[in-house]
Amino acid sequence: MPIYLDNNATTRTDPAVVAAMLPYFSEQFGNASSVHAFGSEVGAALKQARRSVQQLIGAALDQEVIFTSGGSESNNTAILSALATQGGRDEIVTTCVEHPAVLAVMDHLETARGITVHRIGVDSQGRLDLDAYQRALGPRTALASVMWANNETGTLFPVASLAAMAQAAGALFHTDAVQAVGKIPIDLKETPIDLLSLSGHKLHGPKGIGVLYVRKGTPFSPLIRGGPQERRRRGGTENVPAIVGLGKAAELAAAHLQDKRSRVRDLRDRLERGVLQQCGYCFALGDDQNRLPNTSNIAFEQIEGEAILHHMNRAGIAASLGSACASGSMEPSHVLRAMKVPASALGGAIRFSLSRENTVDEVDQVLRVLPEIIVKLRVRSPA
Ligand SMILES: Cc1ncc(COP(=O)(O)O)c(C=O)c1O
Repeated sequence: MPIYLDNNATTRTDPAVVAAMLPYFSEQFGNASSVHAFGSEVGAALKQARRSVQQLIGAALDQEVIFTSGGSESNNTAILSALATQGGRDEIVTTCVEHPAVLAVMDHLETARGITVHRIGVDSQGRLDLDAYQRALGPRTALASVMWANNETGTLFPVASLAAMAQAAGALFHTDAVQAVGKIPIDLKETPIDLLSLSGHKLHGPKGIGVLYVRKGTPFSPLIRGGPQERRRRGGTENVPAIVGLGKAAELAAAHLQDKRSRVRDLRDRLERGVLQQCGYCFALGDDQNRLPNTSNIAFEQIEGEAILHHMNRAGIAASLGSACASGSMEPSHVLRAMKVPASALGGAIRFSLSRENTVDEVDQVLRVLPEIIVKLRVRSPA
């Protein structure tokens, strides 16, 4: 059986999620806006899914949950909405290590609309420069957008205090929480975030579905205008099977977070410790104290990451090189460059990202195979 350690790229849709979705392709095919029974049954399913997401993120109200087509749409909507509603403010504060689903929007706003974007740097462990963040906030800041967890290293950002700092400057605060939701407990009643993005396929739900959380009272301008769906905040007939699937995935994630929270962390630590002990000249990247429990990004010095991945793939082990979205290009990851990872290790960083489906046997199999691969490649590569 192949071993899948690339869960930050995407997760397997849980079989219980698939089972929950199936009726909504066939007998429950109605349009939630219809007044007849076909519609009202579907409407009830949407309501239940909204409640499940609300509970997973600790939102105060289910109406704060807007279904979108995924993390990318949620990020685009949040950023453009903040600019549209914060009249007179034309600056944004973000970080150098965001996902392209934020950074590309920022690049576009800069070139097409003349918006000033402050991209705050990180230290060698991927931690945000808090002084620079504070200095960048001001009376012209419309929005601060900082991810909750970095997709490449798993480093967690202190979003509660970052949100409070942004709001003290009169700005809105958005977090791309695509990698955090379902992996760590989140309680938005305790965390003063205005806008939050999440994505179904990162938490064992289907692809092409996500949520934008908008705290009640936050000014909002839709990205997709059309019908009255989602209280006129996102037009378009709802993707009912995917929404039901995301609701089920949220339910399962909440139960898992409560019962077996440390299991994934234990597996990740077993893997990381084993690799660091058995393969020389390598080190773990990211903030050791504040990191997602499932992510380990290990930099192997003087070896091409592509070669490691290729050999692991032949041995039935799937991991990834930097970010999933950057793979395929030979560019070193913008996150690792921002962390000033030494050139000798930049090309050899491998991201292992686990999920609740991984087992001790799988980790031990990786620990049997990987050191041999590293030895073989090290002999080959000129030092
Ligand atoms: C941090 C982060 N934000 C946003 C996205 C994009 O989400 P989606 O694939 O649902 O559009 C991803 C996906 O890799 C991600 O890791």
